[in-house]
Amino acid sequence: MILPLATTDNPVLRRMADPIKKFDDPVLQKLIDDMIPTMYERDGIGLAAPQINHSLQLAVIVPDPTRFQDFKGKKEEAIVIINPRIETHSLRKESQEEGCLSVPKYFGPVKRWKSVMVSFHDRHGEKHTMKSSGLLAKVFQHEIDHLNGILFIDKSPRIYKVTTL
Ligand code: NI
Repeated sequence: MILPLATTDNPVLRRMADPIKKFDDPVLQKLIDDMIPTMYERDGIGLAAPQINHSLQLAVIVPDPTRFQDFKGKKEEAIVIINPRIETHSLRKESQEEGCLSVPKYFGPVKRWKSVMVSFHDRHGEKHTMKSSGLLAKVFQHEIDHLNGILFIDKSPRIYKVTTL
């Protein structure tokens, strides 16, 4: 099922999302099963639970966002992160253009850590630690921001609107 998205002024986007304690929950599993196709359908490379109106520490991410089209073809593959935490990060940040499904048509540069090591639980409750760099590291940081009520427009020094003809 493709889920409706919460956009900019929706207060759910500004809440601190609640941690997930029970993994063996059919409602949670269904939500994850719906979030993945919703992300691909909307051409997103990441989607956090608050964006689909659930204030939970959960997000899905395209495994290799630089190959979005390959994964879009398969549709079911995603990194599922639950109760994530940035454990370590690079010394340096870099700026990269971002957008967000919850802030349609707006884009802007955001400075983020070049690489991050994130710990999280998968959909079965198993704990993982994953190191990422480049675009994937940015997506991790963008999605974790969502779980803390932060949007990229809060961090970008110049947001611009793109209107297609
Ligand atoms: Ni976003």
